[in-house]
Amino acid sequence: MGLSASGKTTLAQLLARALAQRGFKVEVLDGDIIRTTLSKGLGFTPDDRVTNLRRIAAMAQNLVRQQVVTIVAAICPYHAIREEVRDIIGEYVEVYLSCPLEVCISRDPKGLYRKALAGEIQHFTGISDVFETPVRPDIEVTTHREDPEASLARILRRLVALRHISPEPAPPPAKAGEKPAPPQPPARFGSPPPDIKLL
Ligand code: ADX
Repeated sequence: MGLSASGKTTLAQLLARALAQRGFKVEVLDGDIIRTTLSKGLGFTPDDRVTNLRRIAAMAQNLVRQQVVTIVAAICPYHAIREEVRDIIGEYVEVYLSCPLEVCISRDPKGLYRKALAGEIQHFTGISDVFETPVRPDIEVTTHREDPEASLARILRRLVALRHISPEPAPPPAKAGEKPAPPQPPARFGSPPPDIKLL
């Protein structure tokens, strides 16, 4: 979670790749994409955001039940819905991409901040709608102080510390005639084979 342009999509993709390399089944649910499919037609009023996030959480819950590590990249701006989602999912890791609003405005990759500041977009997070600073994220990365690879490394280290993943990625598959590598120590997240699919 984090402001628009805080780096959610970039880090979600990097994390998905890193977890797939470790043998996990992985899905990325990206707010920008979900809003063109599952949540098509919803806007950005508080009610619509909560509806959007409940839908994402329901889908994530089903995927998690199928042992799929589900990475959600969404703004998720309000405390109350974060707590609700934490309860729905159960095995849940809250990752906050902390990045000052001014930096996000200067990045503005989609030109949305410019429009929001000009009053052309209503309810824009950070401009005309609130982003409540997360109070108890499991992981926090400051995406304005380090490059995405460094943020990824920080997230992976925290996932190891929280015992969701093992310290090392799974070894490459054995070549013909070689003995297969020994199994990895158990980790809490799902299981192989790797498979990234974008919804
Ligand atoms: S959330 O608040 O419901 O979690 P979500 O992550 O799905 O938001 O969608 C955010 C994306 O929608 C942003 O990355 C941005 O590209 C786009 N967007 C369009 N209008 C707004 C708005 N008013 N506020 C925030 N993001 C917006």
